[in-house]
Amino acid sequence: MIRGHYNDNNICFLGHRSPLIKLQLLLCCLLVVIMVTLPDPVNSFHANNANANANNANSNTNVNSNYASALLSSSLNNNAESNSDGTATTTSTLPSMENLSVGFIGCGTIASSIARGLSKAATCHVDDVHSKNTIGIQNMVVSKRSESKSRALCDDLSSKLNISVTETNQEILDACDLIFLTVIPQKAAEVLQGLEFDPNRHILVSLVSTANLQDLVRDSKLDLSRVAKMICLPSIARHKGVALLCCGDNDSDSDSATSARAFLTSLFGNMGGVVCLDTEADLEACMVTTCTMGPLYGTMKNQRDWLMRHTDSLSKTDASFLVVEQFAGAISDASRELQEQSNNSNSNGSENRLEDLIEEQTPGGLNEQALKNYGTVLGGFAELQDPVMDAILSRIRGETDGSLNNSNDNDNSTSNS
Ligand SMILES: NC(=O)c1ccc[n+]([C@@H]2O[C@H](COP(=O)([O-])OP(=O)(O)OC[C@H]3O[C@@H](n4cnc5c(N)ncnc54)[C@H](OP(=O)(O)O)[C@@H]3O)[C@@H](O)[C@H]2O)c1
Repeated sequence: MIRGHYNDNNICFLGHRSPLIKLQLLLCCLLVVIMVTLPDPVNSFHANNANANANNANSNTNVNSNYASALLSSSLNNNAESNSDGTATTTSTLPSMENLSVGFIGCGTIASSIARGLSKAATCHVDDVHSKNTIGIQNMVVSKRSESKSRALCDDLSSKLNISVTETNQEILDACDLIFLTVIPQKAAEVLQGLEFDPNRHILVSLVSTANLQDLVRDSKLDLSRVAKMICLPSIARHKGVALLCCGDNDSDSDSATSARAFLTSLFGNMGGVVCLDTEADLEACMVTTCTMGPLYGTMKNQRDWLMRHTDSLSKTDASFLVVEQFAGAISDASRELQEQSNNSNSNGSENRLEDLIEEQTPGGLNEQALKNYGTVLGGFAELQDPVMDAILSRIRGETDGSLNNSNDNDNSTSNS
């Protein structure tokens, strides 16, 4: 498992710890120092690019076909090497972190959020030439679907980067290296099967929870090593929350600079943090906690409603504010300390952070009392939460429809038969 964490500049790095990685980091630093002293430093690259993008942006509401084919040929040229007999050999490449071309097939809620997160990551790094992972976006292309959302995205990002809208999904592939599949589950297979991926160029990241890696390989015809599944929440736009990732090239050396896993982990590590899972089964289990966002809002609403019944002068707005901000304060304390401990070389210190936070409650105090009441009177959090989480996992795995009542019905019908 690889985690992203923040340094003091609020920039996320991976939790590399091996001596080999430290050596690689040292070499990277040396490279950065050399690059800074060269006439074409990273900073000026970004500044030039930002200006060029801003100039291009206003006139770019559709992909210009010359522009798209120019991008395609330049990318393929990068992939072509000459043999001694003069014939060309095509080699597989990864997208360039400093010169990303990113496409979104489907331009709904999650596509817009990732696009905004990428834009923020690129913006963050313009001024930071010392960052290990300098992100630059050469171009971003989205499908015209959900026109109100794709238009809003273009309006928001066009001053920051070169963003375009296409009529067809194939144009997105022709113009971009890194492709996000962000359509609803029912459309995923049909959309992929209608596209022609370049096996040496494209990396496919699917946000479609129901499509497994083998489905994605079958439908895209890409090699497993160039396919990944990702789960994140819309807060990735603001680099909040954690992206869950499961990559097809898991068996290869995940620290290798040529691995898609290393590339994607590094990219999303710069967008709030990433947890990279070794198996799809583990990814499915981790997805369950992303589905407790709704219940968390339900818990807060219940507390707000309780306050409304037990106070005379508190307005509903103030009660909502009070409850949400109390949760936010507690969560930000827990998060900050976990991030700090994760930055230390001995990250095992954060292993029991949640137990420590519970232990910190004043002995004999009200919080301790409330915790005890949950544990002794109501059966504890496991009894309250586990059946709900188990049911969601069984739905994710296609075993039930996720409803607790129906799981019981199914159990009964199984035992009756
Ligand atoms: N929202 C989340 O928080 C979240 C989180 C994690 C994962 N996901 C997953 O991400 C995927 C997208 O979710 P979403 O919430 O972003 O859904 P959404 O807002 O409905 O977006 C889906 C997009 O796909 C487009 N689309 C449909 N058919 C298409 C086609 N043939 N070619 C190109 N685009 C097409 C839709 O366009 P039209 O509107 O024109 O049909 C729409 O823009 C789902 O598989 C979901 O499970 C979502």
